[in-house]
Amino acid sequence: MARIKVELPASPAGGKERSYDILVGIDSLADLGEIIEKLSWCQDILIITDPQVNNLYGDKLRCGLKNIKNSTIEVPRGERYKNLQTASKLYDALAKNSAHRDSMIIALGGGVIGDLAGFAAATYMRGIRYVQVPTTLLAQVDAAIGGKTGVNHPKCKNLIGSFYQPGLVFIDVKTLTTLPARELRTGLAEVVKYGVIEDADFFKFLEANSHHLNTKAFEAPDTLRAALKVWEIIVAESAKIKAKIVARDETEQGLRMILNFGHTIGHAIETLTKYYAYNHGEAVAIGMVAAAKIARHLDLLDKESVQRIVNLLDKVGLATQAGGLSARKVVQALGIDKKVIKGKLRFVVPEKIGKVVIKDNIPTRIITQALLETGCK
Ligand SMILES: NC(=O)c1ccc[n+]([C@@H]2O[C@H](COP(=O)([O-])OP(=O)(O)OC[C@H]3O[C@@H](n4cnc5c(N)ncnc54)[C@H](O)[C@@H]3O)[C@@H](O)[C@H]2O)c1
Repeated sequence: MARIKVELPASPAGGKERSYDILVGIDSLADLGEIIEKLSWCQDILIITDPQVNNLYGDKLRCGLKNIKNSTIEVPRGERYKNLQTASKLYDALAKNSAHRDSMIIALGGGVIGDLAGFAAATYMRGIRYVQVPTTLLAQVDAAIGGKTGVNHPKCKNLIGSFYQPGLVFIDVKTLTTLPARELRTGLAEVVKYGVIEDADFFKFLEANSHHLNTKAFEAPDTLRAALKVWEIIVAESAKIKAKIVARDETEQGLRMILNFGHTIGHAIETLTKYYAYNHGEAVAIGMVAAAKIARHLDLLDKESVQRIVNLLDKVGLATQAGGLSARKVVQALGIDKKVIKGKLRFVVPEKIGKVVIKDNIPTRIITQALLETGCK
């Protein structure tokens, strides 16, 4: 099992330890109970999950927890339930179970469950311990790490929330084997992003192993074994990169912004297509291609590197072309993105594979040109 530490300063109030481990294993779900028992972290546990994940993995997790009092609450599946009404139901369940400061939450599921359960943990009794057990690729390499918790508001996604770090992130990459292909791909956009922003060797590893990075690899026993070993490395390396960035900039004051590579244009595309035509990873993949092309026009990135980014996204089945969206409308949508700081639009652009810089004031002409080269009209 790989162990990655997210190094954080102790809490200023009371000096409480806030650093935590990310554990990445294969078929390890039933081992979590023993780890929690050894840590003597809690007297009882509320598992927050959704019906699909509970059905697939609830029993496996619970069988390891047989020495700790636990109960489970299911939240309906989907982003539209990531709201205050659902959070309120979680508070009801916690109160009904007489949860107290020594109670703990386990978030078992994708990013929606992680954000919701983390938010409930952050706010119930002013904060109780929680463990993230992410079961989608996106949640394993991104959402579960870094302590961003929250819910949506009808006016805006993730409008209500707080930074509240988990006590542990426990990842079993075997859970990836039941993910629909599209969910796997959406997480892969974030994985490719880590290679581009921080680690050229990791990017090379992804290029060399791209044939494992699809759901077909899970179908036969021999390819499954090989694929899971590769996934263990990929999830651990991605977690290491995210952990390093979070440790240096926990509350997104500066450096953590590099995690937004591809997301500025990606969010504009998601907004413009009303979160319907593209899911998050698909929009981010197009955003990364456009950002790489912007970097090329600014003479920051060479042509070969742009092509390597396009090729890798292509190989893992992600779109690299925007399919005829209006470049003018994308630029317009960029104006309302939250990365506009004091009227300036900030872009994260690569200088080479493994290194990005933040640029302000990129001329609209260059953004438009890059969008036209990325399949916009
Ligand atoms: N906190 C953060 O830093 C952060 C970062 C990125 C995204 N997010 C949030 O994450 C959410 C998206 O997360 P997501 O992409 O994981 O989607 P999701 O949580 O909606 O999960 C997608 C679907 O996959 C199913 N599922 C989960 N695990 C499965 C498995 N192993 N096998 C089969 N089905 C499974 C779920 O039931 C769900 O229907 C968004 O709300 C987004 O805002 C948060």
